[in-house]
Amino acid sequence: MDKSVLFLCLAVIIGGKWGEAQTTGPHHSRVVVCYLGTWAVYRPGRGSFAIENLEPSLCTHVIYSFAGLNIKEDSIKSLDPWQDLTENYGKGGYQRITTLKLRYPHLKVSLAIGGWNEGSTNYSKLVSDASRRTKFVTNAVEFIRKYNFDGLDLDWEFPAKRGGVPEDKLNFLLLVKELKAAFRKHNLLLTAAFGAGKDTIDVAYDVEGLAIYLDFIHMMCYDYHGAWDQKTGANAPLKSSDVLNVEYTLNYMMKLGAPANKLVLGVPLYGRTFVLPEALSSESKRKPKLGMVSTSVGFQGPLTRESGFMGYNEICLELKNKTAPWSKHWDSESRTPFAVRGTQVISYDDGQSIYEKVKFAMEKNLAGIMVWSVDTDDFQGDCDEENGQNYPLMREINKSIEKALEDIKNSIIKEKLDQLENSGFRVVGSFDLLLVIVGTFLSLRQFLVIINFV
Ligand SMILES: *[C@@H]1O[C@H](CO)[C@@H](O)[C@H](O)[C@H]1NC(C)=O
Ligand SMILES: *[C@@H]1O[C@H](CO)[C@@H](O)[C@H](O)[C@H]1NC(C)=O
Ligand SMILES: *[C@@H]1O[C@H](CO)[C@@H](O)[C@H](O)[C@H]1NC(C)=O
Repeated sequence: MDKSVLFLCLAVIIGGKWGEAQTTGPHHSRVVVCYLGTWAVYRPGRGSFAIENLEPSLCTHVIYSFAGLNIKEDSIKSLDPWQDLTENYGKGGYQRITTLKLRYPHLKVSLAIGGWNEGSTNYSKLVSDASRRTKFVTNAVEFIRKYNFDGLDLDWEFPAKRGGVPEDKLNFLLLVKELKAAFRKHNLLLTAAFGAGKDTIDVAYDVEGLAIYLDFIHMMCYDYHGAWDQKTGANAPLKSSDVLNVEYTLNYMMKLGAPANKLVLGVPLYGRTFVLPEALSSESKRKPKLGMVSTSVGFQGPLTRESGFMGYNEICLELKNKTAPWSKHWDSESRTPFAVRGTQVISYDDGQSIYEKVKFAMEKNLAGIMVWSVDTDDFQGDCDEENGQNYPLMREINKSIEKALEDIKNSIIKEKLDQLENSGFRVVGSFDLLLVIVGTFLSLRQFLVIINFV
């Protein structure tokens, strides 16, 4: 191509980059979707998470979870009016979270409807009736706008499962299509959280159709294994020899027609716990492996108090216990850590496993990363004895995205230069320099646009 056109393109793009306004959010170009479970406020002591504990500079999107379905009105309803609303001296959670947008203009705040406890059958009946869908769409737009949210996140767990019917798959698509048509007029975001198991994806989602209407699809890439398996396994394996892993889930979604730039990889800020029938023998204690037989119920953490589940904030404190020490291990198959003490086992994610997942997501050019949920990161900074730095995992995600994008860009530059040299391209000296200079100023996406021209 004409060199002058190339230089013009570069000037425009670099100019645009320099002219960019300061942002109150992440510096990279990917989304970071932060789910917040509002019931976390009821946890005891240092576990209690209020909206004011959020660190909005680490998120591009926050999702306030969960609202419910009012089946009499076909509308969204608050499941905890005292926390969410201002009436009757309520704590006004909706208002407090959306007001964050004033100080953090980059932030988008959505309301989630659904979640595990809402079940599936009420949603199944709603979507099966065209006139009820229409009513819900009208009411949803009104609700979202009334409370100043930027969008709605659909968390039906799951269409065609847990009492749902096979028709849910098509009817859910119809609901999403109709919601999007109404949302477009008001510039509202429409997103959804999807189950990650192949069996769920197959029965619940018309992936190709849903991907047209949803702005983002939040893949819940966790709970692949837990105490229900009656053997120890990784909560969120990056890889495995079966279909229960992050790589399989994302590759499968893309194969079914979801474009990478709508897929958001979910990462758990919690672990799954297990109880062994008896403590390990000294033989297997030396090099324990996941896959050990366990009882059907895991142990609880002191703050989240839910059998089989433990927040990272609880895990990182546990692992520091010197009087009853844990042994820490790395499972090289799943690319995640686990810890063992007596009959107790915890499978979880740490900085290293999260870095590897982020790297995978960036290599696949996904839209970004989602977390379930910010309230179980070490949001108090209790595990960092030296500096009291809070949000270690969220900060790892922020750093990892920048690092992975930079690494990918550099390897493309290197590859391009090698190609040029092999093709005997002369003026190599100045062209090399230009590529490297340009590369350092551009985001990966912008750089790819330019490189494809050359
Ligand atoms: C469906 O909605 C009704 C009324 O709100 C509620 O009582 C019921 O628990 C819901 N069903 C499920 C499975 O949650
Ligand atoms: C360490 O673990 C033991 C056994 O669970 C517990 O009794 C003790 O309180 C823990 N210590 C700390 C500092 O958490
Ligand atoms: C995110 O990472 C970048 C680059 O490492 C850093 O400059 C920035 O301060 C980080 N943001 C936060 C809120 O930690």
